[in-house]
Amino acid sequence: MCGIIGYCGNEDSVVRLIDGLKALEYRGYDSAGVSLFAEDGILTVKASGRIANIDTRLADEHSGVHAECGIGHTRWATTGKPNDINSHPHNSGKVSIVHNGIIENYKELKRACEQQGVVFASETDSEVIAALINLKYTETGDVMQSLRWTMAQLTGSYAVAALFADREKHVFAFRHDNPLIAAATADGNYLASDFAAVSKYTDRYYLPEDGDIVEMTADYIKFFDADGNEKQIEPVVVTDMNRADGKQGYPHYMLKEIHEVPRAIRDTCKDHIYENLPTFDKELTEKLAGAGRIYIIACGTALNAGKLGKTYFEKYAGIPVSCETASEFRYFPPILNENDRFIFISQSGETADTAASLRMVKARGLYTIAVVNTPNSTIAREADNVIYTRAGTETAVASTKAYNAQASLLFILALGAALEKGTVSEETAAALADKLVNQLPEAVETILADTEKIKALSEKYCTAHSCFFIGRGPDFYLAEESSLKLKEISYIHCEAYAAGELKHGTIALIEPDVPVISIISGDKIRSKTINNAAEVKAREAKVLMVTDRDTDEAEHTADDVYVIHCPDSDLFHICAAVFFQLFAYHTALGKGWDVDKPRNLAKSVTVE
Ligand code: M6R
Repeated sequence: MCGIIGYCGNEDSVVRLIDGLKALEYRGYDSAGVSLFAEDGILTVKASGRIANIDTRLADEHSGVHAECGIGHTRWATTGKPNDINSHPHNSGKVSIVHNGIIENYKELKRACEQQGVVFASETDSEVIAALINLKYTETGDVMQSLRWTMAQLTGSYAVAALFADREKHVFAFRHDNPLIAAATADGNYLASDFAAVSKYTDRYYLPEDGDIVEMTADYIKFFDADGNEKQIEPVVVTDMNRADGKQGYPHYMLKEIHEVPRAIRDTCKDHIYENLPTFDKELTEKLAGAGRIYIIACGTALNAGKLGKTYFEKYAGIPVSCETASEFRYFPPILNENDRFIFISQSGETADTAASLRMVKARGLYTIAVVNTPNSTIAREADNVIYTRAGTETAVASTKAYNAQASLLFILALGAALEKGTVSEETAAALADKLVNQLPEAVETILADTEKIKALSEKYCTAHSCFFIGRGPDFYLAEESSLKLKEISYIHCEAYAAGELKHGTIALIEPDVPVISIISGDKIRSKTINNAAEVKAREAKVLMVTDRDTDEAEHTADDVYVIHCPDSDLFHICAAVFFQLFAYHTALGKGWDVDKPRNLAKSVTVE
């Protein structure tokens, strides 16, 4: 999703800004641009496509340009196509801005600006911010007043950085419900939408509050509150940071991150095992053990991990769990009770819908827990209690190791709650914890070593234009995640279906070139799901069965059977997810797609 960088210092700002934009690339974007204080005023260079296009344009059209101050942006299109004109920065009169977020009332604001003679170049909501600031600045000549007034006009979420042509070497910024940080480093001062953009220069940053205005030069960073009074902000010192460490010899981040799954599981869980037993902060386990219901709220892959978590809490701790899609929950919450507990799961910790749901729950005075992979992120900071997954930086847009780490953490957390509640014995909890932290990573290693076979299977199935994943219970939850993984990077239409539900309509779509991937674990529903696989086989679908044991029945039904041996059937899904991550990876690669940066997707979804 969109990224912002601003720089003031003695170094070449072109280099610094492009460097910062590259550090934000992982968020996903489809155009980029910069505005600089050049010799004869603000120079804006922007282009659709990759950041390299800006480099090329700067070299071809503005060779030798030097500036010590500027702003930059990576845009993930929301309002208006991803083309050159809609790219940021947007300029109006003396003002140049970059914007993250969405301005909900931009149409009426645009009309009002047009009535005052403003001619807009782009289709974006963001350009209206530049126009408003410039109108007020032209009227008053007062930067602070024009920024404050503009904020008062805007409805929606925004982080904005702005240059004023006659305030050379200054960058101004403000935010509302959208991340923005400032950082002072030995080489200059920075503004950014994300600490990742500056983490290689510093371990501390400032976090302006909603409504604050930031003024930055090479010499200082000042903060002003909504009334215009200068204020002090204490720096956040990042002691426990996820550092980007490159591809480490792997051809893609996604492959590297899949190979990090065993370490991610171990690192995440070992902090919570003490003397062989699941161990958490007492308040946390007491709150969970006393829950009438647990709500798990998240988006995408994090939500799919949450669904596995539901099965663990219900089975071991006997606590009912509802899993909720954050974008729905925030507007259509169920009836909530005082002793309900809320777990928000997020890799980035910045997902707008998840953060908004968290705020809504907190506003009702209810107890919130964040399961987050990014230290100091918004969701981590705002929840009553945070537990970190230790997956490390995840750069590929398709989430992989974070999912395994989230599900593993929920497993050990459910055991912690169960011990507190007395629904499992210490002996059982210790045995399961051992399987999780020692045996599960080994089982994952076995899958990682089987790449050639998984690649061959992906080649067999990748010609499909459409594909179904079926399963029951937790197998279905894994089917949902596996289907999401395959569709987001291979662009094959995929659907996950509860195996027993397919025949109630959707089976009409089954035909010879629509493969069905059937996931089966444990004993309870084995024969039922095999029957469902037989139903699609009878309609000439190709069937790949991924299961925890081989049986004659499976061999007779499926075209291919892939067996995953796992230390415990409850851990099968965390383990088997790695098969599907590799399956998706090789399918996408076989089709020639950019697996790390799939089309239309963003790593950190900071708009609703
Ligand atoms: O950062 P989060 O975990 O909150 O992100 C949630 C989803 O946007 C994310 O999992 C998304 O579904 C991934 N692209 C899936 O691979």
